[in-house]
Amino acid sequence: MYRTHTCGELRIADKGKEISLAGWVQTVRKFGAITFVDLRDRYGITQLVFSESLNSQLDAQPLGREFVLQINGTVLERSNKNANIPTGEIEIGVSSFVILNKSAVPPFTIQDDTDGGDDLRMKYRYLDLRRNAVKKNLELRYAVNRAARNYLHENNFMDIETPFLIKSTPEGARDFVVPSRMNPGQFYALPQSPQTFKQLLMVSGYDRYYQVVKCFRDEDLRADRQPEFTQIDCEMSFVKQEDILNMFEGMIKHIFKAVKGVDYTEAVQRMTWEEAMWNYGNDKPDIRFGMKVLNIKSAFTLGGEIVAKGELLAGSEFSVFNDAETVVAIAVPGVAEYTRKQVDELTEWVKRPQIGMKGLVYIRYNADGTVKSSVDKFYTEDQLRAVAEAAGAGKGDMVFILAGAEERTRKAISELRLEMGERLGFRKNDEFKLLWVLDFPLFEYSEEDNRWVARHHPFTSPKPDHIEVMIGNSPVITNAAEYLKHPYAQIKANAYDMVLNGNEIGGGSIRIFQRELQEKMFDALGMSKEEALHKFGFLLGAFEYGAPPHGGIAFGFDRLCAILGGSESIRDFIAFPKNNSGRDVMLDAPSTIDQKQLDELALKLG
Ligand code: AMO
Repeated sequence: MYRTHTCGELRIADKGKEISLAGWVQTVRKFGAITFVDLRDRYGITQLVFSESLNSQLDAQPLGREFVLQINGTVLERSNKNANIPTGEIEIGVSSFVILNKSAVPPFTIQDDTDGGDDLRMKYRYLDLRRNAVKKNLELRYAVNRAARNYLHENNFMDIETPFLIKSTPEGARDFVVPSRMNPGQFYALPQSPQTFKQLLMVSGYDRYYQVVKCFRDEDLRADRQPEFTQIDCEMSFVKQEDILNMFEGMIKHIFKAVKGVDYTEAVQRMTWEEAMWNYGNDKPDIRFGMKVLNIKSAFTLGGEIVAKGELLAGSEFSVFNDAETVVAIAVPGVAEYTRKQVDELTEWVKRPQIGMKGLVYIRYNADGTVKSSVDKFYTEDQLRAVAEAAGAGKGDMVFILAGAEERTRKAISELRLEMGERLGFRKNDEFKLLWVLDFPLFEYSEEDNRWVARHHPFTSPKPDHIEVMIGNSPVITNAAEYLKHPYAQIKANAYDMVLNGNEIGGGSIRIFQRELQEKMFDALGMSKEEALHKFGFLLGAFEYGAPPHGGIAFGFDRLCAILGGSESIRDFIAFPKNNSGRDVMLDAPSTIDQKQLDELALKLG
């Protein structure tokens, strides 16, 4: 037996016990004839004291950082206690020790504030994982995993594995493909999600399925995206949208409680996709703070009824606003006193290519009630005050206005809102705000292919009263410039996203479960009958054998963990992540393979 206890376990109550510990040497400090060593394992750190009698052995076998050490000794009370660690009241008087393994000098220090840069830490990820900060993240990940499983198990969900070597699943990204040696010239695709399998399981009668499962998507990477990531993937039969929302709202609340001790008792707020776009410029709004968008001009109306407040700025010669498709504003609290320099800096910020605006108009609502604006010469003070007030500004606030093409401008105001929220400290890591976004459009127009694509995926059902519009109209788009006027642009889906603090943490839908409607959907997406049969014949076939009504959702497990852990980057919550170029720098993958392997796979490199 190497150890009787862990390095995080011993307390003052254990005083006098003869014990053994094993772990890694964190630090070695010599005080005269006595040597102090901090020994670390997954559970904590315990201080060891090597008395003079061990000096000749220590001289012969000096200890170094990260050496693997086993000791026998007695638990002693410390004279100068360390209140910062749980074992801080005791130390171990070492009677004998064995170096189980030596260590080279690590390339960075293994402590909370490490001197190692990102690349170095990824190359030596196995050392990085020894650090407390990373360990905490993996512990949180495991806690979320356990909580989700417990909840789902309690609710009769069954974990069923689905294959990785499959045929393409359309989730909007490129597939990773795997060549088949036994079927030369043919390829498997790795699943972008288990979507079609979970639907088939519903046809098979497994009415509540879940899986904590790897998904593979070849897409551009960002802080919240990895080429292989994990979903908590779920599906249920005999459910309507409301049943799914309730069940999974319950799951997330259960996770909050189990992992963070947070009692999220309030009902999760809901808004339609249109409301989200109208009020926040974004389909995953961060509702921890206000600063709602004022629509002065807009390419769409809200619910076909509420129109933008164009009258506020009517009768002026200001062509930037007059010619723009969309003019939107936000009121930022307490910044009326921003200096010229600060406003210039923000103007540069919105002009960056990522945001792509031509400029930023401001209205200062001064503390004395006067207003001052960069467009003073085009509008009266009353007009500008009316805009400021409509945007929700009071004295001491500043209004920012952006104008331009609909999509870009709405995205820009959303980014500006988030940026100001960040700068003003409204986006707190320890505050959690959940939101359901509902009623997404079923289709999106693809300019590249001049056709409709599924916004979620092709198995999502239209809202029941929109099915007629889909069946009764041709999907052909004759006038690309006016695609928004096509009846298909109005069709809403039975789809929902769960948003946490401005991040999409999950998405799902009620599915199509009749063959005819599924065929119509493929047709709407520009797929020929043959192509649909070739790609999805198995699903269409299954729908002929008693498919129950069903729906589901998948949560981005890595994202959920990152947000609960107060981080932007999901990489910190994955044991062995890839970098932004999709590389594993530790393994040096992807890499070339030798000619023999290529030949076996019947592959020729161009
Ligand atoms: P969707 O594509 O919306 O739905 O994915 C579900 C959730 O997975 C997370 N996610 C990602 N996380 C990390 N890296 C990525 N590259 C990545 N892509 C997506 C997001 C997202 O909300 N089959 C459907 C679900 C369903 O309809 O039931 C699906 O996969 O948090």
